[in-house]
Amino acid sequence: MRGGEPVRRKEFPSWPIYDERELEALRAVLESGKWGIGGERKAEFERRFAEYHGVRFGVAVVNGTAALEISLRAAGVPAGSKVLMPAYTFMATATASIYCNLIPKFVDIDPDTYTIDPKAMEESITGDEKAVIPVHIAGCPADMERITSIAERNGLVVVEDACQAWGAEWGGRRVGSFGDLSAFSFQSSKNITSGEGGIILTDDKELYEKAWSYHNCGRRMKGLWYEHFIPGTNCRMTEFQAAILLVQLERLPEQTRIRNERAAYLTRKLSRIDGITPLKRPEKVTNHAYHLYIFRYDEEAFGGLPREVFIEALNAEGIPCSPGYRPLYKLPAFQRLGEIPFIPRELVREMDYSKVRLPNTERACYKEAVWLRQNELLGSEEDMDDIVAAVEKIKDNVDELL
Ligand SMILES: Cc1ncc(COP(=O)(O)O)c(C=O)c1O
Repeated sequence: MRGGEPVRRKEFPSWPIYDERELEALRAVLESGKWGIGGERKAEFERRFAEYHGVRFGVAVVNGTAALEISLRAAGVPAGSKVLMPAYTFMATATASIYCNLIPKFVDIDPDTYTIDPKAMEESITGDEKAVIPVHIAGCPADMERITSIAERNGLVVVEDACQAWGAEWGGRRVGSFGDLSAFSFQSSKNITSGEGGIILTDDKELYEKAWSYHNCGRRMKGLWYEHFIPGTNCRMTEFQAAILLVQLERLPEQTRIRNERAAYLTRKLSRIDGITPLKRPEKVTNHAYHLYIFRYDEEAFGGLPREVFIEALNAEGIPCSPGYRPLYKLPAFQRLGEIPFIPRELVREMDYSKVRLPNTERACYKEAVWLRQNELLGSEEDMDDIVAAVEKIKDNVDELL
């Protein structure tokens, strides 16, 4: 505790993980002279990543944010309509909508899983909504059966935010295969990374061709170079990124298996500590991506010790952890949309979030959530024991911190 010897001085496995294979792959691209268009790796990665998720088509782009934006454009969600989404997510889930002239409408989360609550989603539908973005937060699939069935009954496009959920499964089926389109991220912290990067998956050929066109300056697949059919943008992934990702994709299944094993071990042990409740893993989740390992902290069981002090103490014991998100609607970015000149004024009026209150989201953000990162789960069982020992030590010595 304060001034004493920490439970742990050793580092957890560092991230990213790479070896000669990435180096070789990069060298091959460099020497090919085909660093962008004209190379074959991007198309190969699109094929392999889509196949891995049981989906027909992939469009590799510059990041997960662009994947979300292009998905909404390709789906043809009309400007001015509302998009249902959780507020417990990275800001890009919502800003992608704003960049498409759509209005984020925030829905509360299930307090046990932190994914969008399908009942709350259904209750919030008024008829102005045209899409929903369920987020597979921390790598845990949202309840895609209920969400897609509500979406179908209400004519909503479904864009999965799978930016944290490569390979995660709901009932044996991989995420990315439930929605009309889905978006994944390969940013530096992600479980499969090329520094920056993203991909859109879809089973629908027409949506695929639209997404492809939007990410490639509005061109058509077999059209001429300077023939532009829609006002697209340039979000093409480079061959360097694709080359690294092809290698990283080979590592993903084994790393995911380890994360799942360590998470199960950690959950067994942490659950025995009064005041610590790991997020529920629904029975239907047959594979979890564990981009994050999140547990719920109950300050009452720790003698009233505020979560922020608990987190500081856990870090001091050598266990990297953080409190995670703030509710999106409370962030200055979403409170001050009126100051942003490019957003049409009539949409700004609909985006007054000053009165939004989502109790489960706020409890998670301000009181409960404690995040561990995916690379910690790549450690050994002894490393997991250190996490448990550090939490127990804080609990046993809580008086010192109060
Ligand atoms: C849930 C979620 N959505 C969207 C994104 C955006 O991805 P990127 O950072 O690749 O733009 C991220 C990544 O940080 C994310 O975690």
